[in-house]
Amino acid sequence: MKRRDIIRNSAMLAGAAATGSVFASEGTDARFGDVVISPAQEMGKEKHVPIIDAPSSVSAGQAFDVTVSVGKVVPHPNTVEHHIKWIQLYALPEGSRYVIELGKFDFGPTVAQPKVTVPVILQKNSTIYAVEHCNIHGLWDYSVKVQVS
Ligand SMILES: [Fe+2]
Repeated sequence: MKRRDIIRNSAMLAGAAATGSVFASEGTDARFGDVVISPAQEMGKEKHVPIIDAPSSVSAGQAFDVTVSVGKVVPHPNTVEHHIKWIQLYALPEGSRYVIELGKFDFGPTVAQPKVTVPVILQKNSTIYAVEHCNIHGLWDYSVKVQVS
């Protein structure tokens, strides 16, 4: 696209937005976190909760493995019609408000199992978060704290 086309299109969009004819410009009070289902919903019979296995304490700067698995307690279906689509893994260092992405992992149904191990190196005490998406039952999360010395 040529520069003049970009400018013209931007001007058209700005005009449309000003009249309210194309875009909904009002936000809502809904927060994305509101649609993530708590592990408490499956207490003792976790089928969707992305269980994190990680050491509770590690040495700063030393790699350790973090394993996330879905269906560890009660196996989750793994069919084309019903399966775990992906797992995302994050870390939040103590005292920070900015989460660090550790990885995103997509799974194909029937053969690939919703389990992943990632080597991680931390410098500070951190909370590790996992989020997974079931194509029928939505988003689920879990977290663990890791002490760093
Ligand atoms: Fe499900």
